[in-house]
Amino acid sequence: MARWPKPAEGSWTEHYPDLGTGPISLRDSSSPEFYELEREAIFKRAWLNVGRVEDVPRTGSYFTKEITIAKTSIIVVRNREGSINAFHNICRHRGNKLVWNDFPQEETKGTCRQFTCKYHGWRYNLDGDLTFVQQEEEFFDVDKDGYGLSTVHCDVWNGFIFINLDTEPRQTLREFLGPMITALDDYPFGKLTERYDFVADNNSNWKIFEDAFQEYYHVPGLHSQQVPPKVRDPQAAFECAHFQLDGPHRLVSTAGARRWTLDPEYMYPIERATRSGLVGPWQTPDIGVLPDGLNPGRIENWGITNFQIFPNLEILIYGGWYLLYRYWPTSHNTHRFEGYLAYHPARNVRERIEHEVSSVVFKEFALQDAGMLGGTQAALDTGVIDGFPLNDQEILVRHFHKVVADWVKQYQHEDEEA
Ligand code: FES
Ligand SMILES: [Fe+2]
Repeated sequence: MARWPKPAEGSWTEHYPDLGTGPISLRDSSSPEFYELEREAIFKRAWLNVGRVEDVPRTGSYFTKEITIAKTSIIVVRNREGSINAFHNICRHRGNKLVWNDFPQEETKGTCRQFTCKYHGWRYNLDGDLTFVQQEEEFFDVDKDGYGLSTVHCDVWNGFIFINLDTEPRQTLREFLGPMITALDDYPFGKLTERYDFVADNNSNWKIFEDAFQEYYHVPGLHSQQVPPKVRDPQAAFECAHFQLDGPHRLVSTAGARRWTLDPEYMYPIERATRSGLVGPWQTPDIGVLPDGLNPGRIENWGITNFQIFPNLEILIYGGWYLLYRYWPTSHNTHRFEGYLAYHPARNVRERIEHEVSSVVFKEFALQDAGMLGGTQAALDTGVIDGFPLNDQEILVRHFHKVVADWVKQYQHEDEEA
């Protein structure tokens, strides 16, 4: 798929003729039938990020992940050799959910030596092997070797744990991520371990929410309460400096003047006092040489690059810290949003305050998007109109919906042939 430099003139979109320039349909975000297709065509085929290696720090550390759209629950666990494996969260005896605490639909995490089923006490080791059967002698030739937990393909890239629910993934994780994303092989995510996690159940289709982070020019309008007057002028900021596509993935970079050189009118008193805000701490500890892949457009005064990894992962890197979003569909018009901010662990109180402020400001922004997009979804659900014009700054929205449609078409095509 095309890669191109910043156009000296003309538009970003014209460099990718397959995208077209006409209005797009958003029926893919209000249709229960389309949601069913996405289940098979996308979420049971693509590599999905479910966590980080820091989420399973020791032998026996585990967490569960509810993947509603794929109608399954997964256990991710670190074994005695240190590798990370994933299993379907189902006991092989009579199908009880194996790992959960008070409520079966709630995710959980912890550390254990083995998994014991609540029902009749079957036990599984950290490799998923069945090791104990209650009243084994009363069964009829049950071979324990044949009743290990059902495995899920699992691989790790730069500390990010991915699973793939396909019987046989079509691509390795590395092939799937492709050159634009693996250009971040050397980005030191592992050093940024002070995390602020958020979860929200939103009243919008997963793609509609994802779209709100694929362009920035809505910021002065929607987020005007949070944006000081000078920045509200759309000409003053929020022009994206570089867009790039690679396979199903996308990125956008923005330029950003270093905040401490800016006029005080560009910021709120709390930002001046704490030297932190939506774009994070003004200064972050040295975490080493950052890879070129972080700023592939070679933007002078580079501010942030937002990597959108198909289908539902987004990593926004601000140089010395990053934000991560995941969008988990829960129905055709709802999804669960997970987000976190990750910083170098604070070395003193000032740094801790910088992190807290940046996290709180982020939460406020995300709530504004979430609240408004409930309105977008409600309007789309009426089905009254379709055919929505997109401008050049919305090229990633155009690309995203096209990739989703292409994956669905490919699935339907293979399904017909089978
Ligand atoms: S269902 Fe798990 S031990 Fe019976
Ligand atoms: Fe927004």
